[in-house]
Amino acid sequence: MTLSRTLCFIATLSLCLSLLNTAQANPFTDAEDAVKYRQQALSMMRDNFGIMSAMARGDRDYDAEQFKQRAKAVYHLSYIPWDAFQGVGERVTENSDALPVIWENWSDFESRISNFQQAVQELVEAADSGNMREIRPKFMTVARNCQQCHQGYRAD
Ligand code: HEC
Repeated sequence: MTLSRTLCFIATLSLCLSLLNTAQANPFTDAEDAVKYRQQALSMMRDNFGIMSAMARGDRDYDAEQFKQRAKAVYHLSYIPWDAFQGVGERVTENSDALPVIWENWSDFESRISNFQQAVQELVEAADSGNMREIRPKFMTVARNCQQCHQGYRAD
């Protein structure tokens, strides 16, 4: 092999390796770890959501700063669980309530994710107003996004 052909071969190999790396959808090689990761993120989402929910229902005094902080946390978390449904996290049922229909309907699942993220972004913006009358409908939209996705894609 001439030098230039060798270099070309190495360049192709490293391109190939970098493509393989980007195909890796999450940091896991073990399916159970992927399931645990997404469930932990979703649990943190619930913990933050629960506080907002109590304030929106009037079960807890409305605290604008606290509400804003929880809304932002849910916004960040809304980007976390989903890649753990890919790669080794696909079609895992043991220890998971994810329904197999997720992977049969992946593009619908993805569009629910982006609608959800959009709804949470609007909630964060409304939270800045400090006005519960503006916040409540945005909060309800987010809650509906959680419920509707669970109805279609989560067991129980
Ligand atoms: C795009 C779909 C989708 C949206 C939106 C969604 N979830 Fe889920 N959620 C799931 C799926 C699927 C599971 C099951 C995950 C598993 O067990 O592998 C789940 C599981 C959970 C769990 C259980 C985690 C555990 O420890 O087993 C909680 C809590 C949860 N979601 C809360 C929420 C809350 C709160 C929201 C809205 C703020 C929300 N989810 C939005 C799909 C969604």
